[in-house]
This record gives sequence, structure tokens and C-alpha cells, in this order.
Amino acid sequence: MVYIDDIFADEVLDSRGNPTVRATVVLSDGTEGSAIVPSGASTGSKEAVELRDGGKRYMGKGVLKAIENVNVEIADELVGMEPFNQAEIDDIMKKLDGTDSYSRLGANAVLGVSMAVARACANSLGLPLYRYLGGSNALTLPTPMFNIINGGSHADNNVDFQEYMIIPIGFDNFAEALRAASETYHHLKKILSDMGLSTTLGDEGGFAPNLKSNEEPLQLIVQAIKNAGYEPGKQISIVVDSASSEFLTKDGYRLGSENRTLSSSELVDYYDELCDKYPIVSIEDGLGEDDWDGWKIMTEKLGNKIQLIGDDIFVTNKKILAHGIEKGIANAVLIKLNQIGTVSETMQTIRLAQRNNYACVVSHRSGESEDAFMADFAVALNCQQLKSGSTARGERLAKYNRLLAIQRELGYGEYLGKELF
Ligand code: PGA
Ligand code: ZN
Repeated sequence: MVYIDDIFADEVLDSRGNPTVRATVVLSDGTEGSAIVPSGASTGSKEAVELRDGGKRYMGKGVLKAIENVNVEIADELVGMEPFNQAEIDDIMKKLDGTDSYSRLGANAVLGVSMAVARACANSLGLPLYRYLGGSNALTLPTPMFNIINGGSHADNNVDFQEYMIIPIGFDNFAEALRAASETYHHLKKILSDMGLSTTLGDEGGFAPNLKSNEEPLQLIVQAIKNAGYEPGKQISIVVDSASSEFLTKDGYRLGSENRTLSSSELVDYYDELCDKYPIVSIEDGLGEDDWDGWKIMTEKLGNKIQLIGDDIFVTNKKILAHGIEKGIANAVLIKLNQIGTVSETMQTIRLAQRNNYACVVSHRSGESEDAFMADFAVALNCQQLKSGSTARGERLAKYNRLLAIQRELGYGEYLGKELF
């Protein structure tokens, strides 16, 4: 019998230069698996809790307490156990933590171990991670969404919406979709520098120029798609993540770059207008995480036309998603492992979404690392889409490059790229 021989964690740095947890699980057969936990900036209020040390060290962002929780409490509980029942391992950690949000041990401690266990098991069996987690069903690659203009809390510019993404929908395989996105990214860079605008990158590898309005990025992206030789709306469409909880004030949705404040239904009308003018196929967090009445209006008005993704509103939480499904809110869910805290709970949320025809979009965080766990995870669970930032910055490319390798292993098998709306 193979059992867990050792569990330990290190404090490493993420792409923003902040500390995070790398957990390692060593099995009795000598194989091991490690995983690095990502970290968000525009977090939903009901997300699982990241444990940070406070104090002066790393300006309060150290994770030594989470590391200690892995090394002592979690290791004490799991060492000696058989590793292959992921749900059982995750359940033990949940009970050990004893809170609803992992606020005692830290979701960063628990998720690190949860992912590292899965990886150690895959290594022990000599299987790729997507095959271990997904079995023979893991056959399809997700359609990628590339965040090429960054705004909101991911950039030091005046753009209110957080992410302007391109989604290549008219391509036969993942490699061609990636190429088209990269070419568009380079053409966008040229347009921006010809206009004398900044081409420095935001947290997710997109450009972060100061622009006149929230509409200007859409114009520039359409131009970049055309300059790259592709047809907007046919081959490459646009996805927006407004992350609107970040600009919701007591008076309404404050669009600082346009100097106006909108009600929920006015913002929905604005989206509707933008969808008529630009090839937008999906909007994420169009309204705030607590604005369920607004979400209902938005889903009724736009839900038959475009994909409406819930990120901060659902926080990858099965119970909250179930409530949303019951109320007819959104038609897609963003999937972030660290919002809920373990691999098995994330899988449960995905299965609930799939049973109810909600599309699943596997997502990185704005604070990332070289770990590409989520790429395997998206393939394992047959998720329709994946977003991992732009086609620049190593931590973003780690995921896309991993998908290229998976595509080769699957023999350029099925690609979901044409199936969005
Ligand atoms: P975050 O942003 O990782 O900063 O939360 C990503 C997103 O909102 O989708
Ligand atoms: Zn989001």
C-alpha cells in the first residue's frame, strides 16, 4: 500500500512579488508532488480566507502561519494515510479546520496540500495530472480567453473595467487559437505605441494604458484583430470582466473614466449597447456580488445573447451557485480553486454547473506562479473555457504552454473552440 510519508510547505513568491504557499507531499513509494497557491486582488467577500501573518515582515503579507499549519497540524493528520481518495483527504482537512471559510488553517495552506496530494498521486501512478483527475473523460481542451487590456484594480490606469479579453473562436485547435491571440496582442502593442500610449503591462500581462473611456479598449482591440488579419466576431471575439463590485459605491456604479454613476439597469443598458457595437460574447461580473436583483435583470435582458459569468457573486461555492441557478442568475461560472479551498469542492461546483448547463470558465488569479495545475484541471473536468491572462509574462504562459503539451498528448484531439454562444 502506498501512503503519505511526509508533507511540508515553503514560503515562495508569486508574480506580484508577494509570499505564497508551496506545499509538497511525499509518498512512501518515493514519488512526490508540489503545488503553489495563487492569490487574487479583486476578491469576492465570500471567498475562502487566505491566511496572512500581518506585522512588518513582507508588509504583513507573509504566510509563515499557513506554512506552519501545513507542517504541523495538517501533516499530523494526513501522514500515514492512503493518498488516492482525494475527497476523503479534503474532507479531513475541512473538518480539521472547523470553519466555513478555512479561516483557521488558511485556504492557502489547505489548497496547497489538496493540489499537492493530487499531483503526488498522478506521479505515483505515472499519469499526467489531467488523466489522473479526469480519467478517460479528459479529452477536450478549453477555449482560451486572453486578457490583453488590464484596468480596474489590476492596473495603475483610469480604465474602470478590469479585463478586456479576446477569445479565438474560429480555429481548429488550441495552438492556432494561441497564435491568433499572440499576433493580435503584438498588433495592439503597435497601435498603442503609435498613439504614444504606454505599453507597460498590468498584473495579468495585458497592456494598461490610460484611455478616454471604457469603450476605447474595445475600439483598439477590434482594430488590433483586423490589423492581425482576423475577422472580429467571426474568428476572434471579445470578453469583458467588469469586476463591477470594485467600482460599486453607495450611489451606484461609478465609472470614473467617464465621470458618471449608473444604476444597475442603466449599466445593463450600457452593456447591451456595447454588445450591439462590438463583438462581445461574454461579460463577467457585470454587476456587483450582492446585486442579485440587478443580476436577474441582466440575465433576463442579455442571458440569451451572451455568456454571463459569475465570479465574485458565486466564488466557486456550490451552495451559492445552487442558489443562483434556482433564481435564474447568470449562465456561466468562473472556477478558481482558491476561492473555495480544495480540489474536491471545486470539482463538486463544476459538476453542479455542468448538470445545469452553466458553462465553466477555469481561471487563474491576478497573483500567479509557474504552477500550471489549473490547465490540467480544466482538461480533466472538460471545462469549456480557461482564462490565464495575456500572451506575455511567464506565469500566464505556464498555463497556455502546458495546454500545448496536453494537446500534443491528446493527439490534437477535441477542441472546444467553436462552441461558445
Ligand atoms: P483576481 O482577478 O484574481 O484579482 O480576483 C481575477 C478576476 O476577477 O477574474
Ligand atoms: Zn473576475
